Amino acid sequence: MPICKLCGGPAAYFIEHSKMMLCRECFIKYYERKVYNTVMKHGMLRGAGRVAIAVSGGKDSTALLTAMSKLAREKFPGIEVMAIHINLGIEGYSEKCQEIVERVCENLGVELVIHDLFSAEGYRIPDLRSTPLRRRICGACGTVKRYLMNRLAYELGADRLATGHNLDDVVELLFELYLRGSVEDLVRVKPISRSDNPKLVTKIKPLIELTERENLYYALAHEMPILDSSCPLVEGSRMLRRKRLIDLIEREITGFKHMLYKSHVKRILPRLEKSVAEPNLVECERCGMPSLASRCSYCKLISMLAARSAESSP
Ligand code: AMP
Ligand code: FES
Ligand code: ZN
Repeated sequence: MPICKLCGGPAAYFIEHSKMMLCRECFIKYYERKVYNTVMKHGMLRGAGRVAIAVSGGKDSTALLTAMSKLAREKFPGIEVMAIHINLGIEGYSEKCQEIVERVCENLGVELVIHDLFSAEGYRIPDLRSTPLRRRICGACGTVKRYLMNRLAYELGADRLATGHNLDDVVELLFELYLRGSVEDLVRVKPISRSDNPKLVTKIKPLIELTERENLYYALAHEMPILDSSCPLVEGSRMLRRKRLIDLIEREITGFKHMLYKSHVKRILPRLEKSVAEPNLVECERCGMPSLASRCSYCKLISMLAARSAESSP
C-alpha cells in the first residue's frame, strides 16, 4: 500500500510535480499552507475588510471558497468572506452550477449573492450566438463574467475579488500570450492586480500556484459536490487543446508549469512592468464603470445583442 511521505499513514493522493504521495490529512495541510503562503507572499489580504469570492460551481472555485473561508476564520478573523455566483443561463449546465454553489455555501455558512443573468440583465450566454461573437462565445462569456464579477464586488462593498484561477489556467494563458508576443496582456497576468480606482476592485488569485489536479483532490478530500459535466459551449475549444498540449510537455519536463509561471512572475514581470505603461482608464459613457475606451467592452457586447434582437423582432 502506498505510504504518505509525511506521516507514514496510508496515502491517498499523488502530487505529480514533486513526486510525493500524501494521505488525506497531510494533503489538506499541504494545500492550505500553499494557499496561505501565496496570500502572504503577495500581500493579497493586507488591509482587506471584505473579500468577495467568485464561485462558478467548478472544483477550483469551490476549493477556493472552502480554503479561504477557513483561512479567514483561523488567521484573519477581522476579514469577512462572501461568495458571488453568476447564473449564465446555459441550459442543462447553469442550474447544476448554481445548485452546487448553494450547497457549498450552506455547508460553510458563507453568505451567497446570486446574479441571474436573465432576470437581472435580460439575456443568457447562449443568446450571444445570434451576434458576430458566436465563434468566440467563450471569449465573450469571459468579458461578461469579468465585468459582472467586478461590478458585483464593487456594489457589495468588497475590497478584494478572489477568483479560482489555477496554475494550469495561468500557464495556458502565458503560453498563448508569449506565442503571440502580446506584451500588453502579459503584463496583466499576475497573482494580484491592485487598483486604486474605487470602481475597480483589487483582484487576487490565491490558487495560482496550485494545479487543477490539486484543487480536485482538495474538493474530493472535503467530499464536496463535484460538477459531472463541463460547459457545453467550451467543447473542442483551443484553450482545452492547449491545456492538453501543456500536460504533454509537463510529462516530459517535470515542473514545466511551475517553472514557466515562476520565471514570468519573478524575472519577466518586474521588467515588463517598468516598460509597459499603465492603461489610461475613463468612465464608460453607458454604464459609468472603468473602461479603456469611451464605451467598455461589456457595453459594446450588450449593444451588439440589442442590435440583433431589434433586427429579428417583427
Ligand atoms: P473561468 O474563466 O471559467 O476559467 O473561471 C475563472 C474563475 O472565474 C473561476 O475560478 C471563478 O472564480 C470565476 N467564475 C467563473 N465563472 C463564474 C460564475 N458563473 N460565477 C461566479 N464566478 C465565476
Ligand atoms: Fe462561459 Fe461556457 S461558461 S462559455
Ligand atoms: Zn460600460
